[in-house]
Amino acid sequence: MLESIAAAPPDPILGLTEAFQKDARSEKINLTIGVYRDDTGQTPVLDCVKQAEQRLLAGETTKGYLGIDGLADFKRLATNLTLSELVSHDRVAAAQTPGGTGALKVAADFLAKSARGARIWCSTPTWPNHTAIFEAAGLQPQAYPYLGADRRSLDLTAMLDTVEREGRAGDFICLHACCHNPTGVDPTTEQWAEIAELTAQRGMLPVVDFAYHGFGDGLVEDRLGLAELVAQHEELLICSSYSKNFGLYGERVGALLAVCPSAQAASNVASCVKQVVRSNYSSPPRHGGAIVACVLADESLKALWERELAQMRGRIHSMRRRFVESMKETGCETDFSFLLDQRGMFSFSGLSPMQVDWLRNEKGVYIVGSGRINVAGITLENLDTLAAAISEALAS
Ligand code: LMR
Repeated sequence: MLESIAAAPPDPILGLTEAFQKDARSEKINLTIGVYRDDTGQTPVLDCVKQAEQRLLAGETTKGYLGIDGLADFKRLATNLTLSELVSHDRVAAAQTPGGTGALKVAADFLAKSARGARIWCSTPTWPNHTAIFEAAGLQPQAYPYLGADRRSLDLTAMLDTVEREGRAGDFICLHACCHNPTGVDPTTEQWAEIAELTAQRGMLPVVDFAYHGFGDGLVEDRLGLAELVAQHEELLICSSYSKNFGLYGERVGALLAVCPSAQAASNVASCVKQVVRSNYSSPPRHGGAIVACVLADESLKALWERELAQMRGRIHSMRRRFVESMKETGCETDFSFLLDQRGMFSFSGLSPMQVDWLRNEKGVYIVGSGRINVAGITLENLDTLAAAISEALAS
């Protein structure tokens, strides 16, 4: 049987990372996968994480399995970080998951179990793994427009028209809480209020991807859209990642939070989520969740984390500015100042698939096929080379 299996295509994001690693050119630049890099191009371990790990190592008594839904402290603290006063916590069913992707997968399996074949609306464009995960679970991804014709700003009217015309009770809608992946284009708080109102009116259940909490404008600011959703929807799912904001990528730590209409509903949902997890990976890994819980539970570690997060956010903002300036200096005709309005790690550069291929083949500059650039991968060292290469790609 295995003889007849055809090869699958490489993943649109991770496949490029593999290709980058194989590339022998010393000047190569990787702006593909959403991983933060510091000024030296490294993905650092945060100090707060190192300190938490030292405490955990000293106090560790067991490597036993966690419960199916993870550490109780992690669930409580993650709920608090994400929702604090927005909703009474007894209405929230929480589960620690292997990364934000794990949270999305558990959410999708859970939804598909009670509503097989239901439709889930995703922005065009969206993170390619969204549709892959939803489809694999047995949901039917549908597309709503997101960007305007300039491919640089939100076309709220087009988005809401589609939701109004085609959305119906029982549909799910996937929304990015902040730092939209791949575009970096987020709705304003007022626009979020409109999205929340209309999706609630249509009886749609939001599935909120919250992978970049703290990478936009701050921990409180990045939650404003979610607050609008919670105000209008008595039920929704949130899939959080701690990969980026804690730099815990390989530790795989995330959370699924299901906001339910009542405490009883939350307890029922929690039991069903556990059933989904048990038949998938049984229980989450221990270490990453323990680190996050240790940091969030300790005032001084939490304050250190917030400072380190602000530093990462600040570096990305400053790289946006420097990139825009460097592009100007190359004499490039395209004005990239639209990047300054975008938030988070990513920007939609407007580069065509042909230009993206050319940059990879001729210059060793790796960008996702959609033209998405990981701004966090730009450093003072690679900035000029990158700007010159992009300028040449646009001119050719
Ligand atoms: C990305 O979009 O690059 C990140 O979310 C990492 C991933 O798994 O794709």
